[in-house]
Amino acid sequence: MRAAGICVRLGRTEVLHDVDFIARPGQLTAIAGPNGSGKTTFLRALSGELRHGGTITLNGRDIASLRPWELAVERAVLPQAAQLAFPFTVIEVVRLGQGARACATADEVPVAALARVGLAGFADRFYAELSGGEQQRVHLARVLTQVWQPVAAGGTPRWLLLDEPVSSLDIGHQLQVMEIARAYARAGGGVVAVMLDLNLTAMFADRVALFKSGRIAAEGPPRAVMREAVLSRIYGCTLRPNETPQAAIPYLLPQAAARA
Ligand SMILES: Nc1ncnc2c1ncn2[C@@H]1O[C@H](COP(=O)(O)OP(=O)(O)O)[C@@H](O)[C@H]1O
Ligand SMILES: [Mg+2]
Repeated sequence: MRAAGICVRLGRTEVLHDVDFIARPGQLTAIAGPNGSGKTTFLRALSGELRHGGTITLNGRDIASLRPWELAVERAVLPQAAQLAFPFTVIEVVRLGQGARACATADEVPVAALARVGLAGFADRFYAELSGGEQQRVHLARVLTQVWQPVAAGGTPRWLLLDEPVSSLDIGHQLQVMEIARAYARAGGGVVAVMLDLNLTAMFADRVALFKSGRIAAEGPPRAVMREAVLSRIYGCTLRPNETPQAAIPYLLPQAAARA
């Protein structure tokens, strides 16, 4: 998907200023940057949820011209925080991802999606009685259910738009969810994920767009943008990347971080 000249105004403030962005199918594209830099706002614009200046195209079509159901079959969105006020069971939440197809198909996909996120035994539990990390994975299962096949029958890629998909998860489940995202991309789908953790970003992202103050301040493969000068400027603290000896994946040790 492609975004050109995106400007978004929320209330009186212009939150995004002339953002250009490309995400390719087959790749995991990370959106990183400090709190308040516009990551969620940009992902919501990509999702078609916000009025925006500029043009966003999804599989070659302007999202402003797509109907909600046309968007819903091509991309699924995991919001940063999803509240549910009703006493749904886990499987009922996951079935929401099926939308209008729910009555036509059995529970095959929702059940497989729950297993995929490591919640196979949770189908009949009450959603409200799960831990925050479990709830986050229930929503991921719902989103996976919506766009279960990474590529549609006609060859059109589908998209996962994920806002901080691992923010409530322990390290094992962080790796599990990032592997799900990577596998989706490797199978031909597109993934755009807002990420706070730069080490996971370096491990899993094919490309990363670093936001600062409503603009993309740096963009490229992790190895190109995770450099001391770039990160220190964007995050306002001294960050010294190192590299793992074999894979040359950059990593940051928290001990090396200091307020600038
Ligand atoms: N509804 C709103 N009205 C006015 N400003 C908002 C609104 N929502 C978010 N903002 C502001 O927009 C900026 C970007 O927010 P957001 O995209 O959520 O940041 P991030 O996800 O990078 O932490 C922040 O300064 C935030 O305060
Ligand atoms: Mg956010």
